[in-house]
Amino acid sequence: MIHTHTYDALVVGGGGAGLMTAIYLSRQPNLRTAVISKLYPTRSHTGAAQGGVCAALANLEEDHPEWHAFDTVKGSDYLGDQDAIEIMCEEAVPVIIELEHMGLPFSRTPDGKIAQRPFGGHTHHFGQGPVRRSCYAADRTGHMILQTLYQNCIKQGVEFYDEFQVVDLILADDGRCCGVVAWEVATGDLHVFHAKAVEFATGGFGRVWSITSNAHANTGDGVAIAYRRGIALQDMEFYQFHPTGIYRLGILITEGVRGEGGILRNDLGERFMEKYAPTMKDLASRDVVSRAISKEIRDGRGINGKKYVYLDATHLGAEVIEGKLPDIADFCRTYLGVDPVKDPMPIQPTAHYAMGGIPTDIDCRVLRDGRNVLPGFYAAGEVACVSVHGANRLGTNSLLDLVVFGRRGGLAMAEFCKTADLPPLPRNPTEFAEAQFSKLLSVQKGEPAARLREEMQDVMQDDVGIYRTGEGMTSALERVRALQKRFDGVVVGDKGTRYNTDVLEAWELGNLLDLAEVTTVAALNRTESRGAHMREDYEKRNDVEWMKHTLTTRATEGGPIDITYKPVTLTKFEPKERVY
Ligand code: FUM
Repeated sequence: MIHTHTYDALVVGGGGAGLMTAIYLSRQPNLRTAVISKLYPTRSHTGAAQGGVCAALANLEEDHPEWHAFDTVKGSDYLGDQDAIEIMCEEAVPVIIELEHMGLPFSRTPDGKIAQRPFGGHTHHFGQGPVRRSCYAADRTGHMILQTLYQNCIKQGVEFYDEFQVVDLILADDGRCCGVVAWEVATGDLHVFHAKAVEFATGGFGRVWSITSNAHANTGDGVAIAYRRGIALQDMEFYQFHPTGIYRLGILITEGVRGEGGILRNDLGERFMEKYAPTMKDLASRDVVSRAISKEIRDGRGINGKKYVYLDATHLGAEVIEGKLPDIADFCRTYLGVDPVKDPMPIQPTAHYAMGGIPTDIDCRVLRDGRNVLPGFYAAGEVACVSVHGANRLGTNSLLDLVVFGRRGGLAMAEFCKTADLPPLPRNPTEFAEAQFSKLLSVQKGEPAARLREEMQDVMQDDVGIYRTGEGMTSALERVRALQKRFDGVVVGDKGTRYNTDVLEAWELGNLLDLAEVTTVAALNRTESRGAHMREDYEKRNDVEWMKHTLTTRATEGGPIDITYKPVTLTKFEPKERVY
């Protein structure tokens, strides 16, 4: 059964970016807005972010948005667009105050200001040492942001479609965006949401890798849908591994532990970050720390020769750990039987964050080919590439990106809706979605999606992870493409309609495989090392040839991936060698 709904503006995704956009849209009189989410919004992955959201509030020491911008540019390995970064760092200060006024329960300094802690790559005086810039709510900052924004949405009467999986983007015959198609999880019915403006705020795709901090839901649906509709993806080769995930499980142990003074140690008990980053040590940028951990492990200095090192917080004392880091203490006790007050935590890098995604301008307007606006289509948060993170994101800049660009998206969409008309729907808007699902449900005998997913995750973990080579990635690409072929033979056990998570998981696997392929193609193509993209066969950054963004497009399904480039926007920070 097909249902049709009409709105002015639609937000797809109920995490931080989507909810912030919805709040801004709902402030406009006579603008009909809805949020569509595959989950209940408060289960969105924003809730897993722990250690903080940064802004140069200078509550505890001198700080300036310009220092923040410099750190972000340097962290991005000079691939971030500096105009967008300047905007994000300037707007950080008022947006944090706004969150506070919305009711966000930040931790406090003794004199009642928002508390701030150091985080990786954030410095004072342009790189002179760590600065306290991360505003936090213990180690539950993302959770508190999500709850606060959701409560404000409810207060303002935002309409929600919970547990609706968006499966396609609708483009009108004249090329404008005019809605989405969604699968209602409870019934299996398809819904056409017809609107003047649509924002994707659907998050990332960490489930491409086997060791990941990402939730099961992070299957890159929005990125994959846009890609299938011929929209370019930007900088897909840059995927961040967070240095500290729980060994084998990948669950995030916040960088806030190191912000509070935690230390990484190898099997010899050495504080090895002193070797790799003499000034910032354990608080160097994430790409640097993750590589250092991997090198220690590869060189045989993992604990007992295994694939992990220790994150030692035992010297911080019970008061700091229970008061400022209660969730990670709980995770370690629950999942590892390790009490971080008494024992070091076994950690390894974990797939965490996509720097690349759907290209947008600074008002979240999607750039169809990386240059030209696709009218009516917006993207914000991890799904988007503005690009404020370039080749490597700094910790706490993700929550900031969500609220700054969520807000900007809401403002821009509201302005657009004032004058735009509602483009007519194309003749059969559900055709493509129906074709995908009937194909998935028609296979009677074949392989389970879970088997292919595990194989893909292992391939990507081994060969398109922290250290990469041309040979490894060529082999990974062959294996991912073989999995894409086998995907046609995936069998879905449940042929029913009600809560058919089986068919949805199979559909999500198709998204992950497409993103694994395009990530590998972009990574193979970039013959240099920059930020999170570290090639052992091209170890140096090459600004002469590679100071540019990659745009990958697939014009037809299954067709070749076309690669083009666009220049990086530089304003005041000249590229330099990065030393921490
Ligand atoms: O380490 C953390 O708390 C994660 C923060 C982030 O990814 O920004």
